[in-house]
Amino acid sequence: MYSIIQKALFTQDAEWSHDFTINWLRRTQNTPLDFVYRQNLTAKPVEVMGLKFKNPLGLAAGLDKNGECIDAFAAMGFGFIEIGTVTPRAQAGNDKPRMFRLPAGQAIINRMGFNNKGVDNLVANVKKSRFDGVLGINIGKNKDTPEEAALSDYLSCLQKVYEHASYVTINISSPNTPGLRNLQHGNALNDLLSGLKTEQLKLADKFKVYRPVLVKIAPDLSHSEIENMASALIKAGIDGVIATNTTLDRSLVEGQPNAQETGGLSGAVLTTKSQQVALDLASALGGAIPMIGVGGIHDAASAKDRINAGSSLIQLYSSLIYRGPQVIKEIVESL
Ligand SMILES: Cc1cc2nc3c(=O)[nH]c(=O)nc-3n(C[C@H](O)[C@H](O)[C@H](O)COP(=O)(O)O)c2cc1C
Repeated sequence: MYSIIQKALFTQDAEWSHDFTINWLRRTQNTPLDFVYRQNLTAKPVEVMGLKFKNPLGLAAGLDKNGECIDAFAAMGFGFIEIGTVTPRAQAGNDKPRMFRLPAGQAIINRMGFNNKGVDNLVANVKKSRFDGVLGINIGKNKDTPEEAALSDYLSCLQKVYEHASYVTINISSPNTPGLRNLQHGNALNDLLSGLKTEQLKLADKFKVYRPVLVKIAPDLSHSEIENMASALIKAGIDGVIATNTTLDRSLVEGQPNAQETGGLSGAVLTTKSQQVALDLASALGGAIPMIGVGGIHDAASAKDRINAGSSLIQLYSSLIYRGPQVIKEIVESL
């Protein structure tokens, strides 16, 4: 069924297809029409960071930026769902076109730039959803917030999403917000993490519930940058790390149509690079905090490899576009 739908969608512009699908999922979730994508998968329960997951495979951030289709993605069989990236204020993102398919590598290049309807809208959508599984909320900064004021954007999102999220992800690795990746290094990183940790503990006290805070990193960090990141996360008491976001590396798709588009590259071509980051990160962390593996996971083998590299949980985005909900079933049943 998905191969027919996909053929039709792939004749259209990538972002138009995305918006069409999100609208359709939003309208059909929790109705009998969800039979088109509903899958009943064998439970493969895991417990990580004190949270109980139905299975270890989650939806990666960026597909449902505003949390509009949580119940639809849950029906597909994901063990957890991450929504966002959301920013304090709504913003339009970069000019279109800004999303491109590279079918030869089952890949996508995007430079969306955190287009989203703002954190209040996301929270309202979460309240409407019926999902009672693990929900991650991924937060970022507005484009027009100066880099040195980034912490205040993250704090304001953290305060608003805290009681509605199972965990919160700090996105400092999108290549599409100028300066954002600078927050992955040195004092900027340490200040951000300690500010977030202080606020997390205050919120835990206020709501009498501790919500894990995770950091999502880029695949373009060097070996020593990964080591520095790992020690900064451990020192700050961060609860987990998500590796990886999209890459700026174009050697993976050299010569392919759309390869020269600006933005972050994702999909099957990213598998090896993200796997290497997972291995380096696992050795740098020495098991101190859990890892969520993402980047190029597209079948049972790539999922198993990422888990064997030390990831307690895994996520995917691009392979859902290329393979449909079947990829969730294939991976979960194989674990
Ligand atoms: C169109 C698009 C938009 C994305 N938006 C976000 C985002 O808003 N926040 C985020 O943390 N990651 C975002 N990502 C990155 C994914 O969550 C994921 O880390 C990356 O695509 C690698 O996984 P994949 O190869 O399975 O797609 C986006 C990816 C794509 C393709």
